[in-house]
Amino acid sequence: MEQKFQGFGKLLHGGDYNPEQWLDYPEILEKDIEYMKEAHINVVSLGIFAWASLEPEEGKYEFSWLEERINTLYENGISVFLSTPSGGKPKWMSDKYPEILRVDETRHRDFYGFRHNHCYTSPVYREKVRMMNMELARRFGNHPAVLAWHISNEYGGECHCPLCQKEFQSWLKERYGTIEALNNAWYTRFWSHTYQSFEQIESPSSRGESFLHGLTLDWKRFVTERTADFAKWEIKALRDAGSDKPATINMMYDFQGLNYHKFTDIIDFVSWDNYPVWYKKGHALLAMDSGMQHDMMRSLMKQPFLLMESCPTSTNWQSVSKLKEPGLLEAASLQAVAHGSESVLYFQIRQSRGSYEKFHGAVIAHNGRRDTRVFKEVEQVGSDLEMMISLAGSITKAKIAIVCDQESRWAMEDSAGPRNKGLHYKEAVEKSYYAFRKAGFDVDFVDMETDYIEEYQVIAAPMLYMFRCGFEKKLRSFVENGGILLMTYWSGIVDETDLCYLDEVPHGLTDVFGVYSEEIDGIYDGMKNCAVPTEGNSLELEKTYTCEYLCDLVNTGSAEVLMTYGKDFYAGKPVLTCNRYGKGKAYYICADMEQAFYDEVYSRLIAQSELQPIIPGLKLPAGVEITSRENEQDVFVFVQNYLSETVNLVLPGEYELIFGEKHEEIKPLETMIFRRKK
Ligand code: GAL
Repeated sequence: MEQKFQGFGKLLHGGDYNPEQWLDYPEILEKDIEYMKEAHINVVSLGIFAWASLEPEEGKYEFSWLEERINTLYENGISVFLSTPSGGKPKWMSDKYPEILRVDETRHRDFYGFRHNHCYTSPVYREKVRMMNMELARRFGNHPAVLAWHISNEYGGECHCPLCQKEFQSWLKERYGTIEALNNAWYTRFWSHTYQSFEQIESPSSRGESFLHGLTLDWKRFVTERTADFAKWEIKALRDAGSDKPATINMMYDFQGLNYHKFTDIIDFVSWDNYPVWYKKGHALLAMDSGMQHDMMRSLMKQPFLLMESCPTSTNWQSVSKLKEPGLLEAASLQAVAHGSESVLYFQIRQSRGSYEKFHGAVIAHNGRRDTRVFKEVEQVGSDLEMMISLAGSITKAKIAIVCDQESRWAMEDSAGPRNKGLHYKEAVEKSYYAFRKAGFDVDFVDMETDYIEEYQVIAAPMLYMFRCGFEKKLRSFVENGGILLMTYWSGIVDETDLCYLDEVPHGLTDVFGVYSEEIDGIYDGMKNCAVPTEGNSLELEKTYTCEYLCDLVNTGSAEVLMTYGKDFYAGKPVLTCNRYGKGKAYYICADMEQAFYDEVYSRLIAQSELQPIIPGLKLPAGVEITSRENEQDVFVFVQNYLSETVNLVLPGEYELIFGEKHEEIKPLETMIFRRKK
């Protein structure tokens, strides 16, 4: 993949800043700049929800306050991510043009309120956005303070208005050509739901059609494309007005509403907002979870990304506002950098005085003091980032990838069976990810449209229910050419329109795995089975591990059986198999195994390969994270300790400590960075 973005030449520190909330408090605006400088803040995101202040009346643009802020920030060495304000629309606009308000799936139009709730199709909204964006771009699009465009805010949601329905029908027509083709793809003879024309089709609704899986899946695809088209429209207005600064959208944690891969041709770099619920499952597990999301975001464009929002202390929208203990902010912030971020940015710089987010944590709290614990910790992160300038623009080069395909997940989770509550897809992905991480490797994520999977040496494909874009062919040649492939139960079941394959599954790969699946058993919560190693198995596995939720019953051809079920009527049938195919190996994991199984199996099969972890031979306990970034001259290795005890840490001589205290141990929440010359 072509690398469009190299970063900004330094690591960025800052966050969302809303001076429009403080225009009546000039002394506060003045202090903000002073405080930002003290906290080593070098960029702020401006204008995100400022439409009502930028265009208080239709066509009357009021940009002087913004200009004054941008100039003042610039004079003080602080850059700007300038936002387009489309995430929140002004009241006058909704009153005059009700078509811009969204219609929900029950076909009721929303009232004015909240945010992130405009129709992505409405020509009026699009025109208003275009005019606003062009105006902003003309005024500030080439201002030296402006580093990049922050497009809208956290795109999401869907609209079912008549305009969107029409767009959906045209989109389907374009996709299928004829109504017969659509009927076949959606299998509409079932329950007599055959359509005679595209004009009859309506979006899914709990009051109407919601069991036609092909429709639901295509609706989700359409919503992504509508949203991406809107983002494109926003960016085009900026370009048409003469600004060519890079543009990003801020993405969200495990967000199921959009397929973010479809935005990578539109934006210049990925950014995302991370609000982990620390303490909920222990720091070590939470750090894994957070690390996985960072890696997913980095992998979208395989280039540096930005942490666009994070909370300096506690949010106010999580069920409980738990403070971060001293040191946790630094660890969490540097974890983003460890996984490839070029920034640590917060929501928000100054805490709002009123309305919904008045109790959300901020760099500057209501009391306006800079001797607070939080302010000092933010200041520390800022000074850390300044010291890390040599890392800017470096990238992670993983040799292992996990396939995580949004369309497949949508289809799988929407289908009825084999477990309607609790397929545990995210957990299945996590198990592979955690096992690779514990073995000391960086990990990338790919989807089925990725065309560079041959760059990896190991690929795990957990619960890849749908095969699309000929992915099975890519996997076959990956193994043929020497790759190690791991696939689990409930893979290769349907094609891209969610029609079941009418041959053995995993479709098109049964000879690669040397197995085919015959039945799958959905297990009730609380019931368990187990996997027992076979004698003399080639991974030398000796322990028995438990499994739950789903057990695939496969028949083997050429594959070696390494483990078998211990219980139920299928005791003795395979749970883990391995098949040599071409120059590579293909492992099939039949059941939802416990984490310890993945840890052991993955580390053993890697040990049998030529694959080398980030630091060969270095053994770290689970909970101590190791990641790397590199540039042409150097490899940077990050080690972070998320355990509650100090851990010994001695790296080989060629690793020079460039961040952290010089000692042969790593304390809880400490971050150490080492450099090795290439
Ligand atoms: C984000 C959003 C911000 C702010 C923040 C609070 O999702 O983009 O505008 O609301 O949450 O945590």
